[in-house]
Amino acid sequence: MLIHTNLEKQQFHLSNGKVSYIFQVMKNGHLGHLYYGKALRHRSDFSHLQTYDVPTAASCHVYEDDPAFSLETLRQEYPAYGNSDFREPAISVGKDNAPNVPDFKYDSFRILEGKPRLEGLPATYSDKASTIQILLKDEFLQAELTLNYTIFQDKPVITRSASLKNYGTENLVIDRMMGASVDFPDKDFIFTHLSGTWSRERHVKERRLEMGNQSISSLRGASSHHHNPFLALKRLEATEHTGEVFGFNFVYSSNFIMQVEVDHYDTARLTVGIHPFGFKWNLLPHEVFQTPEVVMVYSNKGLNGMSQAFHSLYRENLIPAHWRKEKRPILINNWEATYFDFNEDKLVKIAKSASELGIELFVLDDGWFGKRNDDTSSLGDWHVDLTKLPNGLESLAKKTSNIGMKFGLWFEPEMISPNSELYREHPDWAVGTPHQRTFGRNQLVLDFSRPEIVDYLYKEMADIIKLTKLSYIKWDMNRNITEAFSQKLASNQQGEFFHRYILGVYSLYERLTSEFPHVLFESCAGGGGRFDPGMMYYAPQAWTSDDTDAIERLKIQYGTSFAYPIYSMGSHVSAVPNHQTLRTTPLLTRANTAYFGTFGYELDPLTLSEEEREEIKGQIVFYKNHRDLIRDGLFYRLLSPFLNNEAAWMVVSQDQSEALVGYYKVLATPNSPKQQTLRLSGLNETAAYSVAGNNQAYYGDELMQVGLQLPTEFNGVNGKSAERGGDFQSHVFYLRSIDIGEKDKRME
Ligand code: DGJ
Repeated sequence: MLIHTNLEKQQFHLSNGKVSYIFQVMKNGHLGHLYYGKALRHRSDFSHLQTYDVPTAASCHVYEDDPAFSLETLRQEYPAYGNSDFREPAISVGKDNAPNVPDFKYDSFRILEGKPRLEGLPATYSDKASTIQILLKDEFLQAELTLNYTIFQDKPVITRSASLKNYGTENLVIDRMMGASVDFPDKDFIFTHLSGTWSRERHVKERRLEMGNQSISSLRGASSHHHNPFLALKRLEATEHTGEVFGFNFVYSSNFIMQVEVDHYDTARLTVGIHPFGFKWNLLPHEVFQTPEVVMVYSNKGLNGMSQAFHSLYRENLIPAHWRKEKRPILINNWEATYFDFNEDKLVKIAKSASELGIELFVLDDGWFGKRNDDTSSLGDWHVDLTKLPNGLESLAKKTSNIGMKFGLWFEPEMISPNSELYREHPDWAVGTPHQRTFGRNQLVLDFSRPEIVDYLYKEMADIIKLTKLSYIKWDMNRNITEAFSQKLASNQQGEFFHRYILGVYSLYERLTSEFPHVLFESCAGGGGRFDPGMMYYAPQAWTSDDTDAIERLKIQYGTSFAYPIYSMGSHVSAVPNHQTLRTTPLLTRANTAYFGTFGYELDPLTLSEEEREEIKGQIVFYKNHRDLIRDGLFYRLLSPFLNNEAAWMVVSQDQSEALVGYYKVLATPNSPKQQTLRLSGLNETAAYSVAGNNQAYYGDELMQVGLQLPTEFNGVNGKSAERGGDFQSHVFYLRSIDIGEKDKRME
């Protein structure tokens, strides 16, 4: 049983042996929080866990004769403001001409096996889970609040969301409605987040919680390059592999906030939800508003334990079912090879040359439609440019398929260029007002809050998918939303714009992915500007960053792995000097970094030397041999590029019989230590492992305690014996457990 209830005490205990989450109805009818953390033994009554201290004479309290019952100090499940609690609330909703102080009191609960879908929103799914829905009512507002909690059977994961129904006759206005709020009893945590900017996404940032508000957020109409909707609260003593970490991820791709408010008693309130700035939702009689979902992971195995829980959840319970076990094709994308300058002949040559290397999918990026010779025109005109491709897309798709490759296309469905036929026909389809518009990459945003625009895009895209028998779509989004105004919404509905916009994006994804489940979607937003679980529900992989430099990618991929499986990260080998950094790295290192993701190439294969082509053929065989391990294995971060001149990580198969280890040294060290080893993780201590290319075999405990011997680095005196030299060196090791016969010989 995953959910225990005590009807008399009105207590609820969600537990699966890994995590416990406990709450109860308090004497004022509100829901009080008792505990979140490592699984506790179940007992019939947990009332003693409620903190119930008389605060100070200055505090307000709910009952005249009970000064200890102050919402300022009681931990709550879904707090409101203005009722003796002065912290930022989970919900703010009201009627015209009445104080906005919701008073939701417990009504009833129901338990469901599995996990119901969230209408119109992406969310995790499972039939190996239990859900409890707590219904609370505010009689004055005539509104029903439902808090949804799902606990997964075999994962340290709880998900939360909330919905609000107006069962009265008057309109309600919601100013703020979070997916979840958690009151922690203390503030002894490191606030750990993934932040950055374009081409430097998801760098790991850490700071200690202090009294006051600390938050990450986006107001850009996308989850953003700048702050990922991920937050970990790490205990002060926790490390990569030990200690307690609470991880949170918001399954949403638009404006969000993840905030921790540390109050004057040093307690910490976490709230996660749609950013309340500018948000105003009219809830008409009989309507329901549903918040997006918050995923909450508990780990007592440090940050890495948290990441592994997110990875397994997203692999098994978030990405489209079709892609769970399907191999993702190794692709070549023509963007950095040609930019806008191509024709059919050039593309077919690239595809043919790539196919000879073993590449499986050819992706035609931006520039195939309208009159798009640069980024100043044609978004919205999704018909082929016959000057570049005189025989049409169908012919190119056929030629690609005759070469033995699958065919993929780039779209930017949410955008419109002012210089486009679509704009000339429908100027009101763009977001903004005619008197004020801000540009970004010479383009405007289509008003996806309007269903007729979403329908139009659906038809355009579905026709091309059918015509070209597309296997893959890269769905890009290259600018953020300004002047967030829809020419169709009423003036009192403009506060609904951002949410309605993303619901429109989700509905297009939903229609396309359900009608064409075999088309692989890769989400993209100028690189990794919308790398979030909302997108992952439809698109199992995302273009991690426009920065394809192998050394920059160490940080980006390392940070991204905090929440997202490596098999969701589009990672390509690109040409040197790199187009974003002008850095020249060895081809080997470019592949060694890109292997730990969904692998591909972003270069012109026609410019490669014979030697490079041979090396790439080897890389492709290597990736194909290890693709299942990369998709299904457990990922361990070993050395952080944020702390060292080195980085390392590894992926171990679920049965611990094989592993792939990546080691990277950023700058060469003169006269470096001679006995450099790398301590591994996740192996079977008693199994013996062989390391490809090395005659020695090792026990798992040796590899984890003593470490794997790293190849000798050039240091001036060992030039002949050195295997690595110069900057940006790397090594990937393949480990396999060996059988007893083999072991006997090598283990003596
Ligand atoms: C931004 C993407 O991240 C790039 O990979 C490429 O597709 C360009 N857009 C095309 O405009």
